[in-house]
Amino acid sequence: KRIGVLMGGDSSEREISLRSGENVFRALSHLGLQAIKVDIGSDPIAALRESPIDIAYIALHGSIGENGVIQALLELLHIPYTGSRVLGSALGMDKNATKRILRGCGLDVPLSLDGEGDIDRMLEKVKQNLSYPVVFKANCEGSSVGVELCENEETLRRVLEKNISQYPDYFIEQYIRGREMTIGVLGQYPDFTFLPILELRPKNAFYDFEAKYTKGMTEFVLPAPMDNAVREHIERQLVYAMRVMKVKGPLRFDFMFTGDNRAFFLEVNTSPGMTETSDIPAMAEAAGISREELVLRILESAE
Ligand code: DAL
Ligand code: MG
Repeated sequence: KRIGVLMGGDSSEREISLRSGENVFRALSHLGLQAIKVDIGSDPIAALRESPIDIAYIALHGSIGENGVIQALLELLHIPYTGSRVLGSALGMDKNATKRILRGCGLDVPLSLDGEGDIDRMLEKVKQNLSYPVVFKANCEGSSVGVELCENEETLRRVLEKNISQYPDYFIEQYIRGREMTIGVLGQYPDFTFLPILELRPKNAFYDFEAKYTKGMTEFVLPAPMDNAVREHIERQLVYAMRVMKVKGPLRFDFMFTGDNRAFFLEVNTSPGMTETSDIPAMAEAAGISREELVLRILESAE
């Protein structure tokens, strides 16, 4: 079978996707499988027509590669593909929708305010409802693109002035003081595996784009120091959330872990990065799963 590694695209995470795709391609080739790289560029229909494939390994990140659009196209073409299907992908790409669903499932999520165009009104709402620092987040981006930590009102005003024309779909989130963590999932309910929880200790103020993709900018603590009972509680909550959100592995739930052992969930990633500095490959390695085995397990998720 010809496995198409779908990569590139034209989202803000294009370069990251090319790095993920390259690693996936290499692993598939090591496994002796017939893989071809398909850069979907800005015309996925043409790209897929030029490279007929039997199965799609999605190494795309952001916008149409991760929000259900490519997934819908592959459904129409009857090409099995890795990862979440249309609805789970669409929900997962929308941080605001994700948090509302997770809250509905009983999970803790940070308070946030939906963005609006009037900056003075927005600042007033923040003053009434949140406390600094707060976080500006573009709703449908990944890799911390369009995410800015704001220590005070002056910074938030500047960030809003700079960002809201580019990201009219944004929200302001209460910054949660705690440790940044993430947990990976392979497989789907009822046959799935949680990977060890990873704690991220970035040199920057938070795990931003630079800290994510520059070697040496973030220390990984694996597995994250945490009581077993607390970890099991987090996993139980996520099993329910995964089913409601209709997402399946590969997945990564990102959260802030506070001093009183509470996890505040920030988002779910339905196409987690596979670069040299990405989280899932490190978690897998800590669980004794090699790169090749990881890619094979993800490939097996295709349906
Ligand atoms: N959006 C990036 C690729 C991640 O979640 O790993
Ligand atoms: Mg994300």
